[in-house]
Amino acid sequence: EAAGKAGYDWFMLKEIDEQPQAVADTLLGRLGERGEIVLDEVRISDEDLRGITKIFVIACGTAYHAGLIAKYAIEHWTRIPVEVELASEFRYRDPVLDRSTLVVVISQSGETMDTLMAVRHAKEQQARVLAICNANGSTIPRESDAVLYTRAGPEVAVASTKGFLTQVVACYLVGLFLAQVRGLKYEDEVAAVVAELRKLPDQVREVLAGMDEVRELGRSLATESTILFLGRHVGYPVALEGALKLKELAYIHAEGFAAGELKHGSIALVGAGTPVIVVVPSPHGRESLHGKVVSNIQEVRARGARTIVIAEEGDDDVLPYADHVIRVPRTPTLLAPVVTTVPLQILACEIADTRGLDVDMPRNLAKSVTVE
Ligand code: G6P
Repeated sequence: EAAGKAGYDWFMLKEIDEQPQAVADTLLGRLGERGEIVLDEVRISDEDLRGITKIFVIACGTAYHAGLIAKYAIEHWTRIPVEVELASEFRYRDPVLDRSTLVVVISQSGETMDTLMAVRHAKEQQARVLAICNANGSTIPRESDAVLYTRAGPEVAVASTKGFLTQVVACYLVGLFLAQVRGLKYEDEVAAVVAELRKLPDQVREVLAGMDEVRELGRSLATESTILFLGRHVGYPVALEGALKLKELAYIHAEGFAAGELKHGSIALVGAGTPVIVVVPSPHGRESLHGKVVSNIQEVRARGARTIVIAEEGDDDVLPYADHVIRVPRTPTLLAPVVTTVPLQILACEIADTRGLDVDMPRNLAKSVTVE
């Protein structure tokens, strides 16, 4: 086992460090020279793809958070309505789907029973099923109409890191591919996003190179009993994922909130010294989005929160309200989760390690849950 860890204390740390390569591998050969998306493996005819009127994205756990991010991207690029659903809920609520529905299922292992059952249910309703999966030849891709493999390599740590990041990237590819096949006016945008996708491996590398301070911050948070995470737009699923990682690894109560919902209840949780981690959108995207999140930081700070802010390089608007700033490189808003998630993984890992816990094998959890 020690050999497998290649000098790292935990598989999870090794897998976090493998993310630049995993993202690069997932993009490999899928970005064309003219800025087009090449997904030959998606064996659903262009005609069928053009006929899609609705998309469901279905998954469990961390993969579900990748699905939530997919919704923002796919709806924006394709104008097809997207619903994201937990696999264990989907099947039990009589969802409306038919031949013109595309069901995108996301599963690292390809063996999660809840997700597999959702695939079977979708197929019974004649929907097309596209799997985003990491484990080659596993059950979910075998039962789906098509599969887009993430190429993260084997993931050993129970908590998913490179699996998640590559799922997010695969979702972008699916969204852009659909926009392209459907010949929408977004063609120029597809090429522009492709250019940004190519930068992601280096940008993740850049984030990883600056993680010493985040580790130190993690050590200072190890005795907290509650940590809150806030985000808006794609930052909201990132907040959910940050909170899940912390619960899984460090057994600390953590919750992710949509920043705009704060005032509708959750702000009551914030007291003197409550750590609040805020995922800030790019100031170069929709200005109102950025401004709203900055005022959320201000609001929790005014109630005594210790604010930990993940913000783009050069975003100085956050400085007056941030106790700690974690910098990430500039990306288009929709692609930001690929960089903003990484410090949250490191933070959870460091907090768990400081608490003396088994980072790779948290209590009560399994890497792949093959029961419903
Ligand atoms: C388990 C793991 C989670 C994972 C979820 C979905 O609960 O502990 O980390 O996100 O399954 O796994 P999948 O293999 O379907 O992505």
